[in-house]
Amino acid sequence: MSMEKSFVKVARLSDIAEGKSARVSLGDDEIALWRVRGKLYAIGNVCSHQHFSELHRGMLSGLTVACPMHGWTYSLETGIAVSGSGRVRTYEVKVEGENVFIDRTPPET
Ligand code: FES
Repeated sequence: MSMEKSFVKVARLSDIAEGKSARVSLGDDEIALWRVRGKLYAIGNVCSHQHFSELHRGMLSGLTVACPMHGWTYSLETGIAVSGSGRVRTYEVKVEGENVFIDRTPPET
């Protein structure tokens, strides 16, 4: 049975400019919250290569972001590495008015 979702407010929409990201915390998780063409995407901020928490400073290209450290690149939609290997977690995002919420329910395994 799937767990009920639990959305937590993490930012205001105006905190995140188009094509940019914000680093937000959700419990122990650090999240890179990207805004691309008006839509928000939340991925784990910690690169699966050497675990630098830098994906919020990565280089955006389409719907992928490249880690600024050594260039491993992740899909914002799936979190899967399209260059390098592994993946980062993705989170469901909800916007209500000016408020941005992220679902903190642990992923189903
Ligand atoms: S730490 Fe991200 S590519 Fe090396």
